[in-house]
This record gives sequence, structure tokens and C-alpha cells, in this order.
Amino acid sequence: MARFVIGISGASGVILGYKCCRALLAEGHNVHLVISSDAHLTAKEEMDNESLQKFTKFQHERLILHAPRDFTAPIASGTFEVQAMGIVPCSMATLAAISCGLADTLLRRAADVTLKEGRKLVLVPRELPLSAIHLENMLKLARLGVSIIPPQPAWYTHPKTIEDVEDFVVGRVLEQMGVKVNYPRWG
Ligand SMILES: Cc1cc2nc3c(=O)[nH]c(=O)nc-3n(C[C@H](O)[C@H](O)[C@H](O)COP(=O)(O)O)c2cc1C
Repeated sequence: MARFVIGISGASGVILGYKCCRALLAEGHNVHLVISSDAHLTAKEEMDNESLQKFTKFQHERLILHAPRDFTAPIASGTFEVQAMGIVPCSMATLAAISCGLADTLLRRAADVTLKEGRKLVLVPRELPLSAIHLENMLKLARLGVSIIPPQPAWYTHPKTIEDVEDFVVGRVLEQMGVKVNYPRWG
């Protein structure tokens, strides 16, 4: 039983963050969740009604939801021990903020804390195309040990639905956070 932080920022693919939380909870872990203010807007635009209802009313006995600017939350401090943090999806704005140490929201502060404490940080950046600025920010963070997992399908797994692609990405993210889950693997 471990403690994880999941941040959901306003990039496309909010469902991926939601699925990461559900998978961690299903494995018996505790999840501290922080959803950026803009992520709610993105969720409204891209989720179907049923998923959006589930997302906005997401509750679980081991899920602790923090307000976007609550800097008194435990995850804002390095003294609060967590195994790893994932930002799923990660917007280019949040990527840029983290890469230059800008901790102006709880999500970004928690990422800053994860880095300064030398804990595992996993980012799922979503943007197309990627500019040199985006790539430089990713490179800078990758060199600090951050796992960068773009939400891409593995065509060799022959995904039939978008849910198959989502589950694959979620599996890769959780694995990088040190959690073994089942997803289609090669070989
Ligand atoms: C429907 C929708 C989709 C978006 N998709 C992306 C995206 O894929 N990548 C991205 O970097 N920003 C995207 N944005 C813009 C971000 O939401 C915006 O930059 C926001 O300020 C990010 O703030 P945050 O990182 O604090 O959540 C999208 C916005 C909307 C409304």
C-alpha cells in the first residue's frame, strides 16, 4: 500500500488521469489528486456525459482531492512522503512551469516538490506538433530523471478501440511510477 500523487492538467486526455487514479485505487493504493482549474474546461469539452459525470463526482475512501491552489495541502511539502507523482495529461503550460521551477499552483508545487525530493515524476505531455520550446522543456526534465510518456498507441498491440490505447498508456505510466499492472506487452 503506497501513496501517489496524480495531477490532471488542462491538456487533452483528461480521461487518462482519471483512469490512472482508478487503477491505483484498484491496486489498493492511496491517491492524492489535484486537478488544475483549466482541466475542468478541457474535460467538459472532450468527455462524454457519462464519463464527465463520473469524473466530476469522483469519490473513493482512498482518494484525497485537493483544491487547485490549496498550498496548505500535504503534497505541497517534501516532508509528506509519497512514492511518485504523475501528471496525466500534462499541458505545455504546466510542462514549461515545472521545467523552470514555477510553483504557482498546487499541481506545479507538488511537481516541484517531487523533483527537489528526488522522487519519481512521470509526465504525459500532449500537444501536436511539438515546438522546439516544448522539446527543450521535455529534454531538460528528462535529463533530471523525469519519465516523459507521450500518450501514443503501440500499433503492434493492435488496439481496437480508443479505450485499448488509453489502457496501454495508463499501464506504461503506472509501471514508471513503480506499480505493476497488466497491459499488452511485446513478446
Ligand atoms: C479542449 C481543450 C484542449 C486543450 N488541449 C491542450 C493540449 O492538448 N495540450 C496543451 O498543452 N494545452 C491544451 N489546452 C490548453 C490548456 O488548457 C491551457 O494552456 C491551460 O492554461 C493549461 O493550464 P494548466 O496546465 O494549469 O492546466 C487545451 C484547452 C482546451 C480548452
